[in-house]
Formats: sequence, structure tokens, C-alpha cells
Amino acid sequence: MLEEIPFRVSTHFQALDVTLANTWDQQRRYLKADIFTLIYFASELWGVKDASEVFFKHVFGSAKPGAHILYIDNDSDIFTHWFDTLAAEVGLEEVQSWSEDARMPSDEQKDVLASYLTHLGWPKMKARVAVRVLQKRQIDT
Ligand SMILES: C[S@@+](CC[C@H](N)C(=O)[O-])C[C@H]1O[C@@H](n2cnc3c(N)ncnc32)[C@H](O)[C@@H]1O
Repeated sequence: MLEEIPFRVSTHFQALDVTLANTWDQQRRYLKADIFTLIYFASELWGVKDASEVFFKHVFGSAKPGAHILYIDNDSDIFTHWFDTLAAEVGLEEVQSWSEDARMPSDEQKDVLASYLTHLGWPKMKARVAVRVLQKRQIDT
């Protein structure tokens, strides 16, 4: 059963390709979000990083003051260095930053991995992940 949370969550779906500005530059609504999550997203786009930087700079630059950005990805320097550099360039402030070993939760549905589980056994699958919690600078009063 889902726990009740003391705030309202609203969702908005929007299809876009970060490398094609005409699929996102007319959209403004998502920029009002309180939190942006980039979960295994930067590593996916690293191969097209020059083409996707304009999108990240646009989102981080346009996010409202106080908005949070949660980054979780493979703890490899090539991804974290890219993301940390981008974040610093647009003036995001670090709230917390750490790396940890992540394992799949025991209650995660993993039938699709059955052959790997047979081969490797449970619970050998783990990944080293980097986590960043950042915040768009608040406006000084
Ligand atoms: C590794 S998945 C992570 C998805 C999700 N965050 C999760 O944790 O399940 C990477 C995502 O990046 C999306 N993606 C890849 N290239 C993209 C692009 N050029 N524009 C927008 N999304 C893209 C893929 O469609 C995929 O959903």
C-alpha cells in the first residue's frame, strides 16, 4: 500500500529528444518543477554530449530558484566529471554528494534477468553509483 505523502504530486508527460531543440524549446511547463531527476540519464547521453549540453544548460538555467536536481548514475569519472562541470557552469549549488554500492532491492521484479541470476546467483549484482543533490540558487532578498 502506498504511504500518504504530505504534498501534492502532479505529473506531466512530454516526449522530447534532447539533441533536437525544436522538440523542447517551446515547452515551458516542466521548467516549473520543484525537482528534476536524472537517473542513468547523463551516461545515456554522454555519447552525444556536445549535442545534448544545450538542453541541460537550458533546463538548469531556466529551472526556478530553489528547485532541486537529483542525479544518480554510474560512478565513472567520465560521466560525473561532465555532469559536475555542467552543473558548476550554470551555478547549481551542491546540497549533498556521495558514491555508494547499490544493489537491486530484494522486492524488485527481476524475472527478465532470470538467466543472469541463475548464472551469477543472488545477490551478486551491484553497481557503484554516484549521487548528487543540487539546488538552483535562491534569489537573494
Ligand atoms: C538508462 S534509461 C534511464 C531511464 C529512467 N531514468 C530509469 O531509471 O529507468 C535512459 C533513458 O534516456 C532516454 N534517452 C536516450 N537518448 C535520449 C534523447 N536523445 N533524448 C531524450 N531521452 C533520451 C532513453 O529513452 C531512456 O529512457
